[in-house]
Amino acid sequence: MNSRTHRPDGPRHVAIIMDGNGRWAKARGRPRLLGHRAGAKRVREIAQACPANGVEYLTIFAFSTENWKRTQEEVAGLMSLFRRYLESESKSLVERGARVRFIGDRLQLDPILRRNMDALEARTAHNDTLNLTVALNYGGRDEVTRATKRLARDVAAGRLDPDTIDHETLPRYLDTHVLPDPDLVIRTSGEARISNFLLWQSAYSEYEFVDTLWPDFTREHFEAVLARFGGRDRRYGGARA
Ligand code: FPP
Repeated sequence: MNSRTHRPDGPRHVAIIMDGNGRWAKARGRPRLLGHRAGAKRVREIAQACPANGVEYLTIFAFSTENWKRTQEEVAGLMSLFRRYLESESKSLVERGARVRFIGDRLQLDPILRRNMDALEARTAHNDTLNLTVALNYGGRDEVTRATKRLARDVAAGRLDPDTIDHETLPRYLDTHVLPDPDLVIRTSGEARISNFLLWQSAYSEYEFVDTLWPDFTREHFEAVLARFGGRDRRYGGARA
């Protein structure tokens, strides 16, 4: 199965805000980190379900620019989970033909984690079964700010004429410049917020807010959401057919 499996009525690019790990752990009287570990297991299950369902791009929100405000213990636990996850999942991601990319500001991340991220991107650069993008230290406003800085530098250096700037210019400077816009954004755990995720890119995305907590979100839940998407009438601001 390769990435040319997209179905005309299904989403080609699905983005997920994986919310509810903390509540899942709390309901069991366990530390929050246990919820994150259970959440990490679901990432594999949902990624594996993508190719068979015609989803070519999966983008997941793993850590936001705002998540640094959590306790030092939780932040350190999450960073160590990401590092171990990349080490343990690398082989399977390579073998399954996933192309892994990271978006977000990686300069603030631990150098060992960054090295693992760079290595995994390089090792999977020729894969095309699934484009898996992990948003790590990602924030939509931060991404647009960083992009604007680069764009301004190009203007200042005479490489970009301000009069030629249109709605296709800024996306070329975003972290997601090689990705199509998401067709569907899913947020688990009952919260109905965007939380600074893919602000520019989701201008015309469909949203699905589901009550299930992320560690309970199975392949069956995912496929049910995809099936609902097939019935939607996307007009991109145009008139109803
Ligand atoms: C939101 O739940 C979840 C996160 C901030 C972290 C997401 C991380 C994972 C699912 C771990 C695995 C990811 C990868 C790529 C290995 P929350 O803590 O905000 O939950 P709450 O709202 O119930 O407190």
